[in-house]
Amino acid sequence: MKSRGPGARQIYEALRTQILAGTYQTGSALPSSRALASELGVARATVTAAYEQLSAEGFISSRQGARAEVVAVIDRQERSAPRQPMPAPGQLSRYGERLAQRPAAALPVDQPALDFRYGDLAASDFPAMMWRRAILGALAQRPERLSYGDPAGSHRLRLALQAYLWRARTLRCEAEQIIIVSGSQQGLDLCARLLLDPGDSVVVEDPCYPMARDIFAAAGGEVLPVAADQDGLDAARLAGVKARLAYVTPSHQFPLGSILSIARRHRLLAWAQAADAYLIEDDYDSEYRYDINPVPPLYGLGAGQNVIYLGTVSKTLSPTMRLGYLVITPGLVPVFTRAKQIMDRHSPALEQDALATLLESGAYERHIRRIRRRMAERRGTLLDALKLNSATK
Ligand SMILES: Cc1ncc(COP(=O)(O)O)c(C=O)c1O
Repeated sequence: MKSRGPGARQIYEALRTQILAGTYQTGSALPSSRALASELGVARATVTAAYEQLSAEGFISSRQGARAEVVAVIDRQERSAPRQPMPAPGQLSRYGERLAQRPAAALPVDQPALDFRYGDLAASDFPAMMWRRAILGALAQRPERLSYGDPAGSHRLRLALQAYLWRARTLRCEAEQIIIVSGSQQGLDLCARLLLDPGDSVVVEDPCYPMARDIFAAAGGEVLPVAADQDGLDAARLAGVKARLAYVTPSHQFPLGSILSIARRHRLLAWAQAADAYLIEDDYDSEYRYDINPVPPLYGLGAGQNVIYLGTVSKTLSPTMRLGYLVITPGLVPVFTRAKQIMDRHSPALEQDALATLLESGAYERHIRRIRRRMAERRGTLLDALKLNSATK
């Protein structure tokens, strides 16, 4: 018949809690295993197993034939010390201090009646069947050995992106210049770590994507906002500005939506070359153009010199995917690859393979065309409603 008393795990946990709470003082003897077993109505072996575990973890000492004794575990002072909710001054690094001073904005709790929150995608827009097939295909191709992959990303995905960037963005580069990252955010973090020292200036657009500004500020950069308007960043204001980096959204200024004019593009590139600065071109959603064709990237105009191109699938597939890519000059590839390896070895391999399949088969672009039509309808509905509303006022 099965014993109805506690098991060895419960006895162990109860005694452990009592020892830690000081109920059993250091040096005091525990009941003999025979006595405790009879008191609890369990087999002696059950108590012995609990004692053996406590002894192995250093809570008690048990010698053959002698009663088990409680060993000094922690002193009373340490036990009663209150938990410190915040790190003491000096415990955080300077980077940690800067982050602690800039806590993330709290997410809204209430579901608003009309949700204009930026960044989310409708779950129904995600091509679930297509993605499932691609993931299953990638799983079927897994080799027997599960090894770490190339920190720069799967070569297959980099080749597929090279072809895609040429087809869809007229951007010419070698597959070896592409580094797969865990979203634009990690791409920006790598740029900040590798191209910026604390105290160095970084130009950002005013207004600017706050997550980018936060990265530069956390890295200790001096963030210099430069006004943007209906033609994008006002590059004329950069005359005389010394900075290591400039972060720009030329195809679709965030959040104004403007396109950086060709005259300003030339000015910006000339400034970067003269200042020996890198321009980070964040091309986060250029697929969504409704009235004109997607705007060619700054990267092409500058022939890749001084420009780091940053792309993501957060707007085309899902922000939950955490997949993005950098296109950098060949000279930067080794250090970016090494930094990526140190950071997280590489981005998830299965997802990289699945994305490569979608790009190779053309399914990714078919999906973009479908979503773009859907977005255009939604945009049209919103614009009509706004016009209607202003006409009735
Ligand atoms: C300007 C800008 N860049 C990049 C992203 C995407 O970032 P991630 O690829 O890290 O999801 C967003 C998303 O909202 C954005 O607004």
